[in-house]
Amino acid sequence: MNDFRLSVAPMVDRTDRHFRFLVRQVSRGVRLYTEMVVDQGVLRGNRKRLLAFRPEEHPIALQLAGSDPKDLAEAARIGEALGYDEVNLNLGCPSEKAQEGGFGACLLQDPNRVAEILKAMVGAVRVPVSAKMRLGLEGQETYPQLARMVERFAEAGVRVFIVHARSALLAFSTKANREVPPLRHGWVHQLKRDFPHLTLVLNGGVRTLEEALAHLARVDGVMMGRAVYEDPFVLAEADRRVFGLERRPSRLEVARRMRAYLEEEMEQGTPPWAVLRHMLNLFRGQPGGRLWRRLLSEGRSLEALDQALGLLEKQVSQEGEEENPGPKGHPQAALGLAREGV
Ligand SMILES: Cc1cc2nc3c(=O)[nH]c(=O)nc-3n(C[C@H](O)[C@H](O)[C@H](O)COP(=O)(O)O)c2cc1C
Repeated sequence: MNDFRLSVAPMVDRTDRHFRFLVRQVSRGVRLYTEMVVDQGVLRGNRKRLLAFRPEEHPIALQLAGSDPKDLAEAARIGEALGYDEVNLNLGCPSEKAQEGGFGACLLQDPNRVAEILKAMVGAVRVPVSAKMRLGLEGQETYPQLARMVERFAEAGVRVFIVHARSALLAFSTKANREVPPLRHGWVHQLKRDFPHLTLVLNGGVRTLEEALAHLARVDGVMMGRAVYEDPFVLAEADRRVFGLERRPSRLEVARRMRAYLEEEMEQGTPPWAVLRHMLNLFRGQPGGRLWRRLLSEGRSLEALDQALGLLEKQVSQEGEEENPGPKGHPQAALGLAREGV
């Protein structure tokens, strides 16, 4: 359960249980993270809505945000009791809301307080407690400061560090904060050299599995966010190349599994769009991919999905996608990737 080699980043409004289920169909091995959940939501909110997940989603981590050691410890305990494999503390969110609430990246201003929080969380659960942090604040950090902070959090009992390899600029928008501060992957590589006993996961700007594999030679894990949302099949080879599983699903197989999932979910009262919106990029860059996207976003129903599936199945049978290309198959070539979608 505790394989950190490859994970999908926590992303608000993206990595809800429906998108996670989709990603799980693409890769069995990849580690999944929830969206950020504020501790007060866990303590007082609708737990079923906020925290429910399917058994297939394992390994899965709950990401918490907050600033009070007791509340976060209690929220961590609840997460563990619900079956989460890891509890993660958000130390990277630079949003105004996070700053007003005193959580996320602004906590890095006070590493002793963070250590106190982490210690309380580590003391409350048996599953790993991880920290997802930035390099520092306002671009003022130096590598030795970062290393001291990691050391301090490790003293609090944390063994797993996910480092978004940028500073946080608190006066900037969240979007700018994912683009403007320069990436310093080298600092994360250095952390692994300086703290070989800790699990170091690199995050930020990794776009392909090739890039992830290159980092994996130097760190314990790589976390990918936007690239996976924009094209979930960026993970198509992850099981085989990262986890040693002889498995490579086709897009159509995933789409068909998601159809069955959607039906099950609709029986439970889930509106179809809640699932379909995460499926828009499933055929990204493929022939028929644009039509797929359009049919789903205009129809927003099971019928629209059936229509899109029918068309894609026809397209694939004409173009000759191998439903189960062997491990060495190149289905993208088989689909004629050079041609843009309909
Ligand atoms: C839409 C969106 C929502 C995000 N929400 C969260 C969040 O809830 N918690 C968190 O720690 N990071 C969040 N992030 C940051 C990502 O986890 C990740 O650190 C960042 O996108 C850099 O990785 P990437 O370049 O692979 O996308 C979010 C990013 C995006 C794009």
